[in-house]
Amino acid sequence: MEHEQVVIHRGARSGLPVIVAVHSTRLGPALGGCRIRAYDGWRAGLDDALRLSAAMTAKCAVAGLAHGGGKTVVALPPGTVLDADFRLAVLHDVGDAIESLAGGYATGPDVGTGPADMAAIGERTRHVFCRPVAAGGSGDSSPATAAGVMAALRVLGGASHAVVGLGNVGADIAARLLAAGKRVVVTDVDEAKRALVPGAEWVAPDEILGADVDVLVPAALGGLLTPASVPRLRCRAVAGPANNQLDAPATADLLHARGILWAPDHVVSAGGVVYATQVELHGATHEAALARVEGIGDTLRGLLTAASANGTTPAFEAEELARSRLLT
Ligand SMILES: NC(=O)c1ccc[n+]([C@@H]2O[C@H](COP(=O)([O-])OP(=O)(O)OC[C@H]3O[C@@H](n4cnc5c(N)ncnc54)[C@H](O)[C@@H]3O)[C@@H](O)[C@H]2O)c1
Repeated sequence: MEHEQVVIHRGARSGLPVIVAVHSTRLGPALGGCRIRAYDGWRAGLDDALRLSAAMTAKCAVAGLAHGGGKTVVALPPGTVLDADFRLAVLHDVGDAIESLAGGYATGPDVGTGPADMAAIGERTRHVFCRPVAAGGSGDSSPATAAGVMAALRVLGGASHAVVGLGNVGADIAARLLAAGKRVVVTDVDEAKRALVPGAEWVAPDEILGADVDVLVPAALGGLLTPASVPRLRCRAVAGPANNQLDAPATADLLHARGILWAPDHVVSAGGVVYATQVELHGATHEAALARVEGIGDTLRGLLTAASANGTTPAFEAEELARSRLLT
């Protein structure tokens, strides 16, 4: 077993499965967001928690944080409706599960949760980041995540980008790219999101992979890059915030073989966790924390340089960097 600890609680209030996976505390307490979404059974939620927590270990290590990786998943049975009371019950169950780990893991927002949910979790445990600023936290992590992605995109260059998913982070990135004078193609499964970025070109979700752009920016859920999707790409680079973009590690080699540069997601998407830890644990100002987020550009540049010097990929070099930091 690669993970240090995995707890699965049947929530005392909600009856729902609450899964907390702690992958590593080698560098310090584990961090990783709380994902609440529908799964085909709690075992699928467990798989996601195991994968995502391992990626958080690499994310924190490469970002130079004194933290390890963890993840919380609440696996909703499909069709579950979370009204306000039920949602609060779920969040209090999450808080209790985290509290049972006695500080070895702290959570934050992820798909399906936001700062207000963190305040509710915070009623049961103090090991929680990104509560609203008014409640003493550092607030929504999405703008910092988007800022980190932009730092990476600047290193990659290019005049045109295709953004997959116009959620909290993707819509922000698309707007920032438009403001920077880039051509921007966007999509989302929710067509109402189209209105969020009026200056962008809209295509259907199944067309975006073939968009004729310089850089593809995955900003929806994971698993976009597969042996079936990679041959359809027309871009020269892929970099975005979506966690776990590859269906399997070997897909990085398929991208490399096609001459497409893949900037590892755990490097590119670290802005939120970097910002929150700088502000909430180290008392950094907004400006100082954002400056640290901008460092993602330098990290990526270093990986690109090493990959071209060693004849490897940025993914390989990122893995080596994480491994070396975890060994020290
Ligand atoms: N929010 C953060 O600070 C943060 C930090 C690190 C990583 N991430 C990752 O970035 C990604 C986006 O995060 P977010 O907070 O913007 O999430 P979000 O839930 O706000 O947005 C996701 C968007 O993707 C759309 N979507 C889902 N499936 C799609 C598909 N197949 N094709 C097109 N669009 C699709 C959804 O409709 C939604 O608009 C996630 O993978 C998340 O784990 C987010």
